[in-house]
Amino acid sequence: MSQPTIESILQEDRLFPPTAEFSQLARIKSLEEYQTLYDRAKADPLKFWSELAEQELHWFQHWDTVLDWNNPPFAKWFVNGKINLSYNCLDRHLETRANKPAIVWEGEPGDSKTLTYAELHQEVCKFANVLKSLGVKKGDGVGIYMPMVPEAAIAMLACARIGAPHSVVFGGFSAEALRDRLVNAEVKVVVTADGGWRKDAIVPLKPQVDKALAEGTTVVEKVVVVKRTGQDVSMVSDRDLWWHDLEKDASTDCPAEPMDSEDMLFILYTSGSTGKPKGVVHTTGGYNLYAHITTQWIFDLQENDVYWCTADVGWITGHSYVVYGPLSNGATTVMYEGAPRASNPGCFWDVIEKHKVSVFYTAPTAIRAFIKMGDEHPNSRDLSSLRLLGTVGEPINPEAWMWYKSVIGGDRCPIVDTWWQTETGGIMITPLPGAIATKPGSATLPFPGILADVVDLDGNSVPTNEGGYLAVRHPWPGMMRTVYKDPDRFRKTYWEHIPPKDGNYIYFAGDGARRDADGYFWVMGRVDDVINVAGHRLGTMEVESALVSHPAVAEAAVVGKPDEIKGQDIVAFVTLEGTHQPSEDLAKELKKHVVSEIGAIARPGEIRFADALPKTRSGKIMRRLLRDLAAGVEISGDTSTLEDRSVLEKLRTEGS
Ligand code: WTA
Repeated sequence: MSQPTIESILQEDRLFPPTAEFSQLARIKSLEEYQTLYDRAKADPLKFWSELAEQELHWFQHWDTVLDWNNPPFAKWFVNGKINLSYNCLDRHLETRANKPAIVWEGEPGDSKTLTYAELHQEVCKFANVLKSLGVKKGDGVGIYMPMVPEAAIAMLACARIGAPHSVVFGGFSAEALRDRLVNAEVKVVVTADGGWRKDAIVPLKPQVDKALAEGTTVVEKVVVVKRTGQDVSMVSDRDLWWHDLEKDASTDCPAEPMDSEDMLFILYTSGSTGKPKGVVHTTGGYNLYAHITTQWIFDLQENDVYWCTADVGWITGHSYVVYGPLSNGATTVMYEGAPRASNPGCFWDVIEKHKVSVFYTAPTAIRAFIKMGDEHPNSRDLSSLRLLGTVGEPINPEAWMWYKSVIGGDRCPIVDTWWQTETGGIMITPLPGAIATKPGSATLPFPGILADVVDLDGNSVPTNEGGYLAVRHPWPGMMRTVYKDPDRFRKTYWEHIPPKDGNYIYFAGDGARRDADGYFWVMGRVDDVINVAGHRLGTMEVESALVSHPAVAEAAVVGKPDEIKGQDIVAFVTLEGTHQPSEDLAKELKKHVVSEIGAIARPGEIRFADALPKTRSGKIMRRLLRDLAAGVEISGDTSTLEDRSVLEKLRTEGS
């Protein structure tokens, strides 16, 4: 692992305080108020979190112990407390918000649907009963492989209601990637759809499920299929059932199961620098509290807000900030199936205008794509309902931030640049919009209760403005609990890069960062080999295994190179087996092969054939050098550990 450097970060001095109008109405109104909360939480984190848990959530039974940290890094929050996330998202709102829209859904072809809290509650109860009738019991795994339709959220909430941990797999993943996840999570029932709409075309989902199950390596017993796109799909008798048939007779009576605070809520897979994707495990009580309170304070939720997070439910952002966080707060959450496309580059702005969206949360890669599509699209829509903007997924470049602020936000909306991870469960470093002045490109300050720091590998804080590793010094309720079926990997990946000292464990996030003189965090991206393509994490190892599984490939090394829209694009360096010769056709075929192994998000932008790859004497591929080569910059840093320098020379001349 290389020490993060700060050379590439521009000095950014612009400061944008919230307007007086915004602060006045905000939940947290001033820097002083934030500071008081932060100090109070720091002085007594357990009191801070337990008071919030009491005030903000419904518990069937109070906990005995706020935090059990006797066996670090395995935390338990609200020990012996009984709670149900679906109850907190639905039942408790019925008295005051029965007729308030819970989910406002917009399909890509222009169809739309609104579910009030009362209606959503009914649908969730019905589907929970359907799951039970299919034999799903507390603790059984349910896979969800869906387009962005309300049934995706209904299925998640139904699982939470009966205590069946869900594992949502992004609909863009291939059959192979789906199968790996279904096998690892021991999924018994898969919920899917015939397909979904994306960029004016049908993305078939059911055939991918069929392919994933064909080998018989999973333990899936039943597949529930939502009819969304209407094309023919084959249904396997005794295994495949239509959602609408099952729902017809399902009862709307399904009390929420009191779950133990530490019962598993879901598994969500994410990429690391080595090995297969990790099953990140989140549990019930702590996650509920953390998703709830971060949504409320960071998006400054007010009763009449129409809140829209553009993430897919297949990612953690879709879990915490499309479904659970907003619904736990009784907010109106917008779900949109589509994506900006040639036939309507302004579709996002249509959704904002149509539904009078007031809080909008999206990704830097989307913002950069919008800039390219042209200001005429947002400018020709009425975006005056917006009052707050957010970003997540990768560092946002100041130019994109400024564009977002002026063209989308009309210079009146604060921007919350939120840093967090699948592992953290919710947002960790972020402005509170009524309290904290923003700087373009900085995620600003830690959320109250989060003891974030920038450290060296001994766990010492690094001086102001020096690069180091982003770390967290105290457990928090939303933290992941383990890697599913691999506690050792959990320990090694997150808690041992910085060795614990005197029993003090430090969470290692895998990102480089610095803090400026105001204490603001500037996140610089990954320090490991994880590539961030359009805000999605991909491990080099996954893509390399996919390439090597092709018969022509002997060895492969993939790295990220800077990309104007996607942030990073994948460049694959490939050596060939025996008699295979490099050709454009082979490059195309290899790209296709990766898509079929993992999914379109992993398609390499470029394949570079090589005779050999640069390695250390111990045989480790030096990706650092390949990154410089891919980016077309001078190779920097130490090359003395290279086994064979001529390999590098050759790659350099071939590339130019
Ligand atoms: C990156 C997404 C800079 C970071 C919620 C992190 C960011 C990884 C930001 C997690 C941000 C996310 N500024 N970098 N505001 N937000 N990242 O697990 O590298 O898909 O470690 O979770 O995205 O990605 P994940």
